Amino acid sequence: MTTDLDALTIDEGLDEDFELDLEDALLPRQIAAAYKEMHPDPLPRRVYFNELLRLQSELIKLQDWVSATREKIVVVFEGRDSAGKGGVIKRITQRLNPRVVRTVALPAPSDREKTQWYFQRYVPHLPAGGEIVLFDRSWYNRAGVERVMGFADEAQVEQFFQDVPEFERMLVRSGIRLVKYWFSITDAEQQMRFLMRIHDPLKQWKLSPMDLQSRVRWEAYTKAKEEMFERTSIPEAPWYIVAGNDKKRARLNCIDHLLGLIPYTDVEHAEIKLPDRIFNPDYERDIL
Ligand code: ADP
Ligand code: AMP
Ligand code: MLT
Repeated sequence: MTTDLDALTIDEGLDEDFELDLEDALLPRQIAAAYKEMHPDPLPRRVYFNELLRLQSELIKLQDWVSATREKIVVVFEGRDSAGKGGVIKRITQRLNPRVVRTVALPAPSDREKTQWYFQRYVPHLPAGGEIVLFDRSWYNRAGVERVMGFADEAQVEQFFQDVPEFERMLVRSGIRLVKYWFSITDAEQQMRFLMRIHDPLKQWKLSPMDLQSRVRWEAYTKAKEEMFERTSIPEAPWYIVAGNDKKRARLNCIDHLLGLIPYTDVEHAEIKLPDRIFNPDYERDIL
């Protein structure tokens, strides 16, 4: 796979004729400055964290309700590379119990998995009663990366489009609440996020060869996404689109929306009291 860095040109927020020189030590700062210009109205830190904490305490109520009622919830997070799926998933799971809420981010299918029914490798990860499963990418890979990168042929993609509504209706009929989010970002936003990742040792791991191809194939991904929406948004499980260019607002909006979809109620807890120690005279005599 070619990683065509030359294809990465800055097309917004900087001078038209800005030349990208990856050896330039000043570049990270220039990129950060350009990114700031693209986002003149950032959510103040305090507002963001207050709201995030409020939503996270609501998520705890949701978690308690799911545990108590044995509900099953699946949330699918899709979107272009760097759209912010991973970021919102992190904030959702941050304060929750990993036994109740877990994330599924499957790697590329193995040779063995490639011979299976397409949905098979996703099915074992579906929730039991009292569980919430967050899919960081999902079966929709077939309509996106697999299609655009040619890992699936058009016959397989067509079969997928025919199967998906049936598959999802089965999930919903079995008692799963299925929610699907598409994180939407603009071309310029993705460009800047990739450039920042290139220059940030803490973020470089996020930049895969697949990601660089997603810059090159922006238009093909757009077409693929449109067809995916047309053919897989069903009344039982519609797509919800999250405006993703502003990361913080996107996270808050998405969590708030998710909470709004689920009719959770407060679960009564017995008051928690720390138990008294049991006094064992024989043992205590030894250590006193
Ligand atoms: P992510 O953006 O999720 O961090 P990548 O950008 O590396 O990960 O890959 C995007 C998606 O493409 C992943 O879900 C990965 O499993 C999938 N993928 C990568 N290579 C293949 C392949 N050869 N066949 C099918 N799917 C693949
Ligand atoms: P292109 O760059 O337009 O030749 O297409 C690149 C990839 O996009 C190919 O692997 C196609 O499978 C995919 N593709 C082509 N047309 C469409 C379409 N109408 N919808 C979705 N994907 C498409
Ligand atoms: C995201 O933020 O959307 C995910 O991290 C995906 C990626 O890294 O490209």
